[in-house]
Amino acid sequence: MGHSSAEEIGRLAEEALVEIAGTDSPQEVERVRVAYLGREGKLTAVLRGIGQLPDDERPAAGRAANEARGAVESALAKRKEELGAREAAARGPEGLDVTLPGRGAEVGHRHPLMTTLEALLDIFVGMGYTVVQGPEVEWYTLNWTALNYPPDHPAMDEQDSFYVTDEIMLRTQTSTVQIRAMRERHDESCPVRGLDPRFPPQEVLAHCRCTPRPTRVVAPGRTYRRESVTLTHNDVFHQLEGLVVDEGITFGDLKGTLGAFLREYLGPETRVRFRPDFFPFTEPSADFSVNCELCGAQGCRFCKDSGWVEIGGSGLVHPNVLIAGGYDPDRVSGFAFGFGVERIAQRRYHIEHIRTLYENDMRFLRQF
Ligand code: DAH
Repeated sequence: MGHSSAEEIGRLAEEALVEIAGTDSPQEVERVRVAYLGREGKLTAVLRGIGQLPDDERPAAGRAANEARGAVESALAKRKEELGAREAAARGPEGLDVTLPGRGAEVGHRHPLMTTLEALLDIFVGMGYTVVQGPEVEWYTLNWTALNYPPDHPAMDEQDSFYVTDEIMLRTQTSTVQIRAMRERHDESCPVRGLDPRFPPQEVLAHCRCTPRPTRVVAPGRTYRRESVTLTHNDVFHQLEGLVVDEGITFGDLKGTLGAFLREYLGPETRVRFRPDFFPFTEPSADFSVNCELCGAQGCRFCKDSGWVEIGGSGLVHPNVLIAGGYDPDRVSGFAFGFGVERIAQRRYHIEHIRTLYENDMRFLRQF
């Protein structure tokens, strides 16, 4: 090393800058970088020696070293960019390299949730049901009041909700579509048809001027709840709702229908269990479960060691709900049910965590 390290460093930096200016391709720039700043580079060697310098030389040399490195690094970056841009421009007006191999479009397929939903709907369509839908952003009155929830009833706490305004919310359940479907089965000329959703539900029947047709519908769709994510819960999920209203409908019709449906979808060996439950819009109400496939009913995390997986709720339609739909509860009766589609897909495909249905990880989705 020369008598002044600072001078030596300055000289090396000058030399590097001249070489950088003379480069003609990004590869050459890289070669210069390695020659000066690489592990064996000329500048690197000098910088490494600074620690051994006598006390009076070290500060000046240190300063010079920082400056030199900064100047060389930024010159390298700038030149690399210039040359890169020049190369891109040389490739043609669009900067397109037609010699690059093509990128094939990835072909996807149906999401397991949609495959599940379509299969479920197929079964109900086969049993004579019509598929109907309602909005995800829904009136408070249709999510609660028309479904016979009294003001401030604690049953609403089970479905903590996202509100848009005091009157409008993200629906917490597809049961809202029950009301919409029933009102649509009135004659064109009947005032119940196209009624304002905010109209007091208990006064709907009094405004009916027709004999509404029977209702036999299934309503699939997204529902929203403020939930913490668990193995089986997510804040957005899908439900399938069913509603039948006609003369002489009984609980036997409900049990027969759900049993036939579950065995058709999950297999003839499927066992179905009904237990008393409470929902404001049905009376009597029952939840229904199937035997757990994941553990062969031995007990596992998915079925919470019970051997049973709860699928959904059901019951005979409460008279107040019939009235909100414009039906006379003295003339007709009905049954309803609703369940989460994810839960069914999870059981069918042995998917332990609900979250994997929404992560869109292709390694997961490709399996179905
Ligand atoms: N809406 C209920 C829920 O989300 C499920 C339900 C229960 C739907 C009973 C029904 C029913 O149609 O009859 O928890």
